Amino acid sequence: MVSSEGLPLERLPGHVAIIMDGNGRWAKERDLARVEGHKQGAKRLRDVISWASDAGIKQVSLYAFSTENWKRPKLEVAALMGLIATLLPLEVAKMNEKGARLLTLGDISKFPWLARRALQKAMQATAHNSTIDVILCLNYGGQQEIVEAARHFYASLDQQTDKQKQAAFEQLTPETLYSFMQRDEILPVDLMIRTGGEKRISNFHLWDAAYTEFYFSDTNWPAYSQQDLQAALTDYASRERRFGKTSEQVQGKDHE
Ligand code: FPP
Repeated sequence: MVSSEGLPLERLPGHVAIIMDGNGRWAKERDLARVEGHKQGAKRLRDVISWASDAGIKQVSLYAFSTENWKRPKLEVAALMGLIATLLPLEVAKMNEKGARLLTLGDISKFPWLARRALQKAMQATAHNSTIDVILCLNYGGQQEIVEAARHFYASLDQQTDKQKQAAFEQLTPETLYSFMQRDEILPVDLMIRTGGEKRISNFHLWDAAYTEFYFSDTNWPAYSQQDLQAALTDYASRERRFGKTSEQVQGKDHE
């Protein structure tokens, strides 16, 4: 079986995470306000859902607002919140057409009510879709997510004796801590794409970064094209993921 892009389906990433960087630079190059870059970026976000769905990708997560983005100028933060509130309702029909279910990752409780309402309505209206999950990462930070998991783990020991608590800490494994991250519906990130030319993770999906494949694109997000996504998927398909094993083991030539 091959995808619509001609890639073997088993070579497609299940979950693609995208750091949509370069909106400000795209706008600056055109003498436009930064918010114009975000508006254009929101259009690419809509396109990428469609391209990823057509390619057969099961989950795409998009870094739309990090825990650190609150430090931006107040007007820019307000504009981003405004885009969520105004554009999301317009995207629901297209998401339903593409079979896209909207999910969020991150703490949206501090978002303005209009943005929260738009997100909740769009999630409800797309909850029945199953072709692709679109995970908007909002007020999301990878470090904070791990700290939250530690808090939940500690809270789960509430009724236990000190001795039981100590044993639970001594026996704590990555798998156990991961089970306290609220990611039941989220696949491990196979491929992380960062646009805009910078080469860093910026606190995105830190846990999964242990084994995620990275792809850095020089294209600023508002100019991102289907060809750019295709190039990332083709590159990913050529990689051998070893998860600590040898190449021979992965290829089944060495059973020792
Ligand atoms: C990074 O570019 C981009 C962001 C912090 C925001 C991304 C948001 C969108 C694409 C719009 C989201 C809209 C909806 C409806 C969810 P940057 O501003 O850091 O660019 P720069 O590095 O060139 O300054």
